[in-house]
Amino acid sequence: MTETTAATPAVSTEATDRVIIFDTTLRDGEQCPGASMTFEEKLEVAELLETMGVDVIEAGFPIASIGDFESVAEIARRSKTAIIAGLSRAALNDIDRCAEAVKQAKRGRIHTFLSTSPVHMKYKLQKEPHQVLEMIVASVTRARNHVEDVEWSAEDGTRTEMDFLCRCVEAAIKAGATTINIPDTVGYTTPQEYEALFRTVRERVPNSDKAIFSVHCHNDLGMAVANSLAGLAGGARQIECTINGIGERAGNAALEEVVMAINTRRDVLPYRTGIDATLLTRASKMVSGVTSFPVQYNKAIVGRNAFAHESGIHQDGMLKHTQTYEIMTPESVGVTKTSLVMGKHSGRAAFRDKLKALGYELGENALNDAFTRFKDLADRKKVIYDEDIEALVDQGIAAAYD
Ligand code: KIV
Ligand code: ZN
Repeated sequence: MTETTAATPAVSTEATDRVIIFDTTLRDGEQCPGASMTFEEKLEVAELLETMGVDVIEAGFPIASIGDFESVAEIARRSKTAIIAGLSRAALNDIDRCAEAVKQAKRGRIHTFLSTSPVHMKYKLQKEPHQVLEMIVASVTRARNHVEDVEWSAEDGTRTEMDFLCRCVEAAIKAGATTINIPDTVGYTTPQEYEALFRTVRERVPNSDKAIFSVHCHNDLGMAVANSLAGLAGGARQIECTINGIGERAGNAALEEVVMAINTRRDVLPYRTGIDATLLTRASKMVSGVTSFPVQYNKAIVGRNAFAHESGIHQDGMLKHTQTYEIMTPESVGVTKTSLVMGKHSGRAAFRDKLKALGYELGENALNDAFTRFKDLADRKKVIYDEDIEALVDQGIAAAYD
């Protein structure tokens, strides 16, 4: 096997705390049932991702359809700063098609992958390990003939036998891969295991420092974000993720959660990204809108309740100091303000505050009376709007004049 010099990574990670954000909403995200987007919608999402500061946008799987090819090519043509990646299997015609799609990008990447786990090699590929190794060398070499920036992924990497995984990674780096991704394709790993996997591979593989290591985690056991962050501790410096965590089956690691975990807990997660977090809510709404996938109310960072407080104790605390029940500000993710939702759990302090915001200054007796009637209403009605509160105060005032 001849050694090819790995290309200089397109995003500098010289400062070792810089994490590359690779967004795959338009590829892995779009792959989940019901999430398909139109050509225009994909362009709109890609534009916002680039404005947000996403480093790498995986725009699609060019061989999959003419539509996919055209959207990757157009996103590549319009790109200004982001690297535009296309996915391809380890087949030479796939790779050539992908190269054609990304060629107009200022910075194009070919992302090629092959399964390496025993179960995938035996049943899916029906190939022997030595054949898989040959295919890795051939596919990465072909991709490097087209572009300098080549990512290679060991599909089902976390269920791959360690010695073989190291041989595959070594072969990919020798053939010229500049990024090595070890995906947790089926969402099977745990944070401790995933961190150890990266440490071991990076220690054992010669010239591992020539490539940037990447995490790609699925959420089948709800650990995608935790696993991704653990991968960083093991030396990975690229995170593959999607807006709202959409993706195959239970989805991928959610971009907004990864970014805000890093921004909020720098004390224990000593990294930084290039993402403008104030655009996270807008991106979440856009992706939810174009895919028609609702965002669960209690979704971290971007769910409708992420900055809402209803219980009396919490509302009272929030009125005294916002840090009592909020670890990040709503403004930091693009939400205008915290909402103190009025409901049956709300207390007198929040009720008084709400009245003040609505322009009412009631004396103690009128306040007590209004509060009793508010509690009564809240027992009957799930959502209390400002208009409901105004109506009950106005009724009280009118009754006082009868
Ligand atoms: O989950 C996975 O293994 C993938 C690869 C194609 C990177 O999406
Ligand atoms: Zn995936």
